[in-house]
Amino acid sequence: MTVKKIRFASAAVNFYFDAGMGALRSIADPKKTVLITDEHVYEAHRSRFRGWEIIVIPAGEASKVQATVDHIIQQLLGLGATRETVLAGVGGGVVTDITGYVASIYMRGISFGFIPTTVLALVDASIGGKNGIDVGPFKNMVGTIRQPLFILHDPAFLKTLPPAEWSNGFAEIIKHACIGDAPMFRKLEAGSLQGYMKGKKDLELLIRRNALLKAKVVQGDEWETGSRRLLNFGHTLGHAIENSYGLMHGSAVAVGMAFACHLSKKETGFRHEARVKALLEQYGLPTAFSFDAGKVMEVLQKDKKRAGSAIRFVLLEKIGRGVLSALSLSTLEEEIACWPS
Ligand SMILES: NC(=O)c1ccc[n+]([C@@H]2O[C@H](COP(=O)([O-])OP(=O)(O)OC[C@H]3O[C@@H](n4cnc5c(N)ncnc54)[C@H](O)[C@@H]3O)[C@@H](O)[C@H]2O)c1
Repeated sequence: MTVKKIRFASAAVNFYFDAGMGALRSIADPKKTVLITDEHVYEAHRSRFRGWEIIVIPAGEASKVQATVDHIIQQLLGLGATRETVLAGVGGGVVTDITGYVASIYMRGISFGFIPTTVLALVDASIGGKNGIDVGPFKNMVGTIRQPLFILHDPAFLKTLPPAEWSNGFAEIIKHACIGDAPMFRKLEAGSLQGYMKGKKDLELLIRRNALLKAKVVQGDEWETGSRRLLNFGHTLGHAIENSYGLMHGSAVAVGMAFACHLSKKETGFRHEARVKALLEQYGLPTAFSFDAGKVMEVLQKDKKRAGSAIRFVLLEKIGRGVLSALSLSTLEEEIACWPS
């Protein structure tokens, strides 16, 4: 296990890399801690939860809503949770997002930490303090930015992760490579999903590299007023199609990245659209999706990244360098209407 304290403007977070869930006992007092997980993780890893108070929520994005928040709060009240209670989210991004959100509002805020159990949550969702819930088709419409006390990596959870969820997580890894790490992009081109699924050490290093990359971006701009926005690469169109069409987050973001590369070709002269699409496909991700352009534009009008008649869009200048660009909604509408043909 390697412990690394990362200081953000609002708080420091302890990262426990390559640890085991057993280490949680030395971080959080079982008498004051409530674990929140989902039914898939609980069913696959029941024995790991023994000895802890636990709240199990239904699995999947459909759970990331106010009704689940209400349910968790009722359970916390039933358990007699106080301001001293620590919540630990053990699961994918849905569990970590909702745990961080409940912890931010329960009794005006209690402490929390995460044990991310999907690739996506390990490299992305657990890091940076953003938490929240969806409102209908609008992803993450309600939430706060508040840092966890700790993030503990237990690679043993990944043994039960379904293959589609591996690809899902690699979408965010490819995103990181595209916006800020050209050497990692080349490494991914030379590797394969199967290789990482089997190669424990390579996977551990890749996860750590991505977690630290994201943490560094967040350190530079915790409240997302500038450079943190680069992490939204692929997410503008991605979020607009994810809930409307019930796509997995990684698949939606992969389609969003392919679209952003297409726009980049026109807006910044980006020359590697084909390479990015090939890498996404190499890791089992889609690069096109047929959607109703009108419906998608309706969701985009309410996007948090909208400013007046423009939307802040992340484009690529080259592999490893993302840039922010204000695109008018009318340009976007034209481009979306005729993409991917
Ligand atoms: N807060 C952030 O900064 C941030 C960043 C990226 C994504 N997100 C959010 O993360 C969510 C997506 O996260 P996700 O892809 O992890 O989805 P998820 O939490 O729905 O997990 C995916 C599936 O895998 C199952 N699962 C999780 N761990 C498992 C394991 N070890 N073994 C077997 N099954 C397991 C879950 O039950 C679920 O069915 C989205 O809601 C997205 O908005 C948040």
